[in-house]
Amino acid sequence: MISEALTREINEQIKFELYSAYMYLAMSADCSDRNLTGFAHWLTQQAEEEVAHAMRFYHFLLERGARVELMAIDQPPHQFGSPLEIMEKSLEHERFVTGRINGLYKLAVSEGDYPAQVLLQWFVTEQVEEESSIGEIVERMRMFGVEGPALLMLDTQLGSRPAEDGEE
Ligand code: FEO
Repeated sequence: MISEALTREINEQIKFELYSAYMYLAMSADCSDRNLTGFAHWLTQQAEEEVAHAMRFYHFLLERGARVELMAIDQPPHQFGSPLEIMEKSLEHERFVTGRINGLYKLAVSEGDYPAQVLLQWFVTEQVEEESSIGEIVERMRMFGVEGPALLMLDTQLGSRPAEDGEE
């Protein structure tokens, strides 16, 4: 049986994952406003991934016979600054999420909850990928610049991001 503490923290995590989706969607709308269609596409895909993450936790709680208690989601900002600032904020956000996932894993280990550990191992791996892919974009922007042809090339590249397989 899953503990009350872990149930509470996973319910919190559902909220954080949905906030992440909200934030990436707001970033996407901000980029669309500026005709950065590739960035907007990439960020919409990111938002969809976050909904899938929330649903993994949601189904897990239901399968364990625990209560899902959805919480109020904070309103994200509407403007995020330059394209580089958007990606830097995304990276900072993912590092925060990684900290939460690690905390959840630690709790699952301390409680000897093996099913939760298996679920969270997937998220530990996912966070390594998230930080790596966003970190790479940030590094490229810092190295090649964030204006003119370099920005156009990156926008085109981000516009070709496919939907993730196996996210749900
Ligand atoms: Fe669900 Fe981007 O972490």
